[in-house]
Amino acid sequence: MSRIYFDNAATTPMEPEVIEVMAEAMREKFGNPSSIHAEGRAARAAIEQARKEVAHCLGASIGEVFFTSGGTESNNMALKNAVRDLGVRRIISSPIEHHCVLHSLDTLERLGQVEVAHVRLDEKGRVDMGHLEELLQAGGPKTMVSLMHSNNEIGTMTGLDGVGALCRQYDALFHSDTVQTIGYYPIDVSKNPINFLSGAAHKFHGPKGVGFIYINGDNNIKPFLDGGSQERNMRGGTENIYGILGLARALSLAYGNMEARRAHTQSVRDYLRHQLDAHFDGLQYNGDPDKGHYKLLSVAFPPSPKADLLLLNLDIAGISASGGSACSSGADAGSHVIAALNGDPDRKTIRFSFSHHNTKEEVDIVVGKLREILS
Ligand SMILES: Cc1ncc(COP(=O)(O)O)c(C=O)c1O
Repeated sequence: MSRIYFDNAATTPMEPEVIEVMAEAMREKFGNPSSIHAEGRAARAAIEQARKEVAHCLGASIGEVFFTSGGTESNNMALKNAVRDLGVRRIISSPIEHHCVLHSLDTLERLGQVEVAHVRLDEKGRVDMGHLEELLQAGGPKTMVSLMHSNNEIGTMTGLDGVGALCRQYDALFHSDTVQTIGYYPIDVSKNPINFLSGAAHKFHGPKGVGFIYINGDNNIKPFLDGGSQERNMRGGTENIYGILGLARALSLAYGNMEARRAHTQSVRDYLRHQLDAHFDGLQYNGDPDKGHYKLLSVAFPPSPKADLLLLNLDIAGISASGGSACSSGADAGSHVIAALNGDPDRKTIRFSFSHHNTKEEVDIVVGKLREILS
């Protein structure tokens, strides 16, 4: 029996077309992009074409897109370079950001380089915009707001337009961790005022270990990795050309098929919610299931010894999902997100997350197995 993969917020399977593009590049584009001979020039041209495609999807100019090793690096870069190079001394964020943001903020705070303030959230993880404005109004040192577009554990969304407008009003910079939404929502930086955003290819059916950062052209940043002059002097080191080409193709496919993928993915997720409500009592949903990310449903099962082993038993039954977040380890080590929102620690949270490859038939199988396991 083939397995059912409902863990697409952790990572997504690669599209066959992306694998083909990468395999072809491995065969044909082995030159070092910094070499001036024909092989080098071909590799360089391929990277610049990929950058053009990414910039086009985002509504950015090509000089504003830098390839990185993924979401973690892009978020580290945004936060640490803004402090080092742009004079940011205060960062307003939230306790439910991904650990790569939270731990970067811890480091900056420990080094005495910034003060960190957390905006108030409601029980669904939604930002209290009034409190954000109060924090911004308070003035003080140069400030950046860092708030994720969609939470990776519970799917709650933060409006980029609203936060961006407040940041502009109070002359603050704005970084958003858009790792879960790039390729899923039509983010267009020519319309959304934003200074930094980050993407990771493996979240939108591209390869792992490659991502990008968008840095608005007004922000004059110095190298994040010292070395050669790659990535316009911003990140030394020979480029991950296969990864970059795979990322660009995956993103183009995601933008080209966004509406169809959204409609399908959302219908599968909504069907699971409907079936769960029909067959189980006492379920709760973490986050904002009505307005949150359409690829994700975070379910809090009532406490019971059977619920404790749910994730394991689902895995044995051929079903992959995740407890809280699978980004830092496969283990269910308790979630800082659920804890920050005062979720009931005795309930068992399972995060189901979907892609356009999933089906309602798979949902029927999963609900049947849940009934068996929990009965
Ligand atoms: C919201 C969010 N930010 C950042 C990351 C880190 O991205 P990466 O695994 O590409 O380093 C992830 C997932 O891993 C994520 O879900």
